[in-house]
Amino acid sequence: MALFKDMLHSDETLFKNEEALNYDFVPRMLPHREMQQKQVAACIKPLFNDRAGKNCFVSGAPGIGKTAALKWVLRDLEDDTDDIKPFYINCWQKNTTYKVMLALCDQLGYKFTQNKNTEDLFKVVKDLLIAKGAVFVFDEVDKLDDFDFLYSILEEVQLKTVVLITNFKEWLMDLDERIKSRLMCEVLHFDPYNAQEGLEILQERVKYAFFPQVWGEEALEKVAEKTYAKKDIRTGIYLLKESGRMAEDESSRKISEEHVEKAVVKLDEFTVKKKDDLELKEFLIEIDKQPLAAGVDGVYLEGLMTVPTKTFPTRQKQFFAVNGRPTSHAVFRTAVKQVFGPLMPAGRHPLLYLNLIVPTATSNFRG
Ligand SMILES: Nc1ncnc2c1ncn2[C@@H]1O[C@H](COP(=O)(O)OP(=O)(O)OP(=O)(O)O)[C@@H](O)[C@H]1O
Ligand SMILES: [Mg+2]
Repeated sequence: MALFKDMLHSDETLFKNEEALNYDFVPRMLPHREMQQKQVAACIKPLFNDRAGKNCFVSGAPGIGKTAALKWVLRDLEDDTDDIKPFYINCWQKNTTYKVMLALCDQLGYKFTQNKNTEDLFKVVKDLLIAKGAVFVFDEVDKLDDFDFLYSILEEVQLKTVVLITNFKEWLMDLDERIKSRLMCEVLHFDPYNAQEGLEILQERVKYAFFPQVWGEEALEKVAEKTYAKKDIRTGIYLLKESGRMAEDESSRKISEEHVEKAVVKLDEFTVKKKDDLELKEFLIEIDKQPLAAGVDGVYLEGLMTVPTKTFPTRQKQFFAVNGRPTSHAVFRTAVKQVFGPLMPAGRHPLLYLNLIVPTATSNFRG
């Protein structure tokens, strides 16, 4: 019996290049995003003729190639010309104007940033970009605490394209008017991949990451199915990696459907634990029924909101009611902005449910 023939030896591996399964890996080909990449390239094109580029607002659900597509465009630009400087900033990590300016200096190779304030740093950036074009990609912009850098760049850097990326289509509407009017951007929405596109992307990734023959067709289709259900390529990449590890743990030379199933169970446990709504409970405070204001008889307010440290990039999680009947009357949004705005970081909003209790005869709100 060739009992050990199909067993993986301890010094063997199924992975040709496990790094290709890191989320920040940018593959050499990015299938099914050519159209979006062309649209961004068209915004940048005027810079090649020393004319101002167009700006671009990119939105779409998580894990569908927004970051990858933009990084790919920047890499291509860098290979093509030295006259246009590409910048990529993740605003989750660099969430203030000062941090953004430091990062821009760093990407320009400028090291003498110590003891310099935000304005000094911006001056350095402008000086280093004189007579040069620049493409600024700001990713995860909904995580920003302030937008002053954006205003400065839009006002004072002439030959540029600014690209803003977020999951939230509505983010742009809530943006400060001063910035919005200067941004004047093309709007580019990324739709999730369909089942076939998802499968092809994963097949491509398998070629980078695994030795040939490791993946059978059915096992890979199972990964693609789950990926399509979640509408997130990251799910697929996670499953490729976990299934490979499961197979290795069993010293198997092939990744089977059973390995994928085990990886799916692990993914589901992980997702359930991470669910936002479970976390959210810890941040909710109740607003007990209380008079709206001193001297206003018979009008009360009650509801629920998040603590000021738990905020959201849009107002989508705000709901209002009058005597329990839902309303979307603008007066509520305005009042909430006035009361809570100063308590929150710029561009952030609380989750809020407010019920206004008024004597029935005076309740003529239409939602
Ligand atoms: N068309 C594609 N071809 C190859 N890989 C892709 C493609 N689209 C996405 N990916 C891969 O899927 C993963 C997630 O993509 P990416 O990070 O670009 O998502 P995103 O849309 O920016 O998500 P988020 O909003 O959560 O930041 C990355 O590892 C990326 O390389
Ligand atoms: Mg991203």
